[in-house]
Amino acid sequence: MDDKKPQWTLRRPVYLIGFMGAGKSSVARRLNRKFGFDYVDADSYLEEREGRAIAQIFAEDGEEAFRDLESACLKELAGQNRLISTGGGVVKRPENRQAMKENGFVVYLSVTADVAASRIRDKSTRPLFNDLESARARIAERVPLYESSANVIVNTVGLNVYQISNEVFRILREHAIAARV
Ligand code: S3P
Repeated sequence: MDDKKPQWTLRRPVYLIGFMGAGKSSVARRLNRKFGFDYVDADSYLEEREGRAIAQIFAEDGEEAFRDLESACLKELAGQNRLISTGGGVVKRPENRQAMKENGFVVYLSVTADVAASRIRDKSTRPLFNDLESARARIAERVPLYESSANVIVNTVGLNVYQISNEVFRILREHAIAARV
């Protein structure tokens, strides 16, 4: 490990929520690299646990089976104070919204469908990002769920991953969630 790297820790689990392309995974990775926060990507955890890619799970078992797995993973990941980047649909189930709120601090990274589409290079890995029209409808449906789950909202439109990460870091310090090791 680089000794010069500032080391920070979290006092509670921090959930990054938001639509596909909001930057949840990239921001968690960046905050890990820059400040040393522990992090886990919930989708990658699920894929490893199942030994299958998400697109394959959707194709073979359908969305409801995926949502069951997603909820089970969320429970498994709740125990540690680290950053958890979630899948964009995690807020669909009330039990997940409740678990995140009760257990941690929830940061909603908001994005528009158009900006999300420009950020997602490989759409084949996102079975629920088909076309712009349906992405717009899906975001509109979910915005109230994201908003009601969130402790804070960061509008990511016009920001790059570095700027979003710095803003999340600032918020975590402001709320005394981030602390030096
Ligand atoms: C989904 C988002 C994806 C993944 C799955 C379903 C959704 O995660 O969990 O394809 O319903 O919005 P990302 O938000 O990380 O792309």
